[in-house]
Amino acid sequence: MASPVKIPRHIAIIMDGNGRWARERGFSRIRGHEQGAESVRAVLRACGEVGVEFLTLYAFSTENWKRPKAEIVALMKLLERFLKKETPELMEQNVKLQAIGRLTDLPPACQSELHRSIEKTSSNTGVTLILALSYSARMEIIDGVKSLLDAVERGHIDKAMIDVEMFSKHLYTRYYPDPDLLIRTSGEMRISNFLLWQLSYTEMYVTPKMWPEFRKEDLLDAINEYSKRQRRYGGL
Ligand code: FPP
Repeated sequence: MASPVKIPRHIAIIMDGNGRWARERGFSRIRGHEQGAESVRAVLRACGEVGVEFLTLYAFSTENWKRPKAEIVALMKLLERFLKKETPELMEQNVKLQAIGRLTDLPPACQSELHRSIEKTSSNTGVTLILALSYSARMEIIDGVKSLLDAVERGHIDKAMIDVEMFSKHLYTRYYPDPDLLIRTSGEMRISNFLLWQLSYTEMYVTPKMWPEFRKEDLLDAINEYSKRQRRYGGL
């Protein structure tokens, strides 16, 4: 008898290939991002259906601020629209929204939609959707070091008490378990400054599919593959 499928508690996704998907079809890059937002809806719903507890999406990196201004503005508008339009749907699906990153870098309208949606969905008990926005893992680690130093200086903790568990509690992700599965679309074999600390023992799954065409069946393929892996965490 086939063994039952193991469902990862936490899935993290590097949503890549929106631009290439659009270029291959002669569309604008922003059309690729809009189609990518459709994939976000489909994957979030599927996570709820199969019982994934946490879904972290790399929606905007600190490096993405180097893109042409028009694309940044369009992406921020898309995010703002998504939050405004999708919040009733998040309520309906019992999704709790959270965000990690330097959120104060975002345009004020985007920040207020984000906080409104986080607040509105805060008592929901289904999937926790964590959007990484203006996120850099290296910055997160530096912020964590500063926060620890601050605690030492104030006498709240002693330097000798610092260990992996304590450091984890000074990261943006302190409320969530580490991801079990990392999915990256568009075939690139890179981590790209995403959750460097948290991905230490995460299983990776890379698919050639571009993010705008990634749907429920693709998520199930990734979960099936994960299910076949044996995680040893360095042991035997
Ligand atoms: C990478 O594709 C994708 C992004 C930088 C943005 C991700 C944003 C979305 C999927 C849109 C909406 C998100 C939410 C949460 C509503 P790319 O532009 O780097 O593609 P390329 O490598 O083919 O150029």
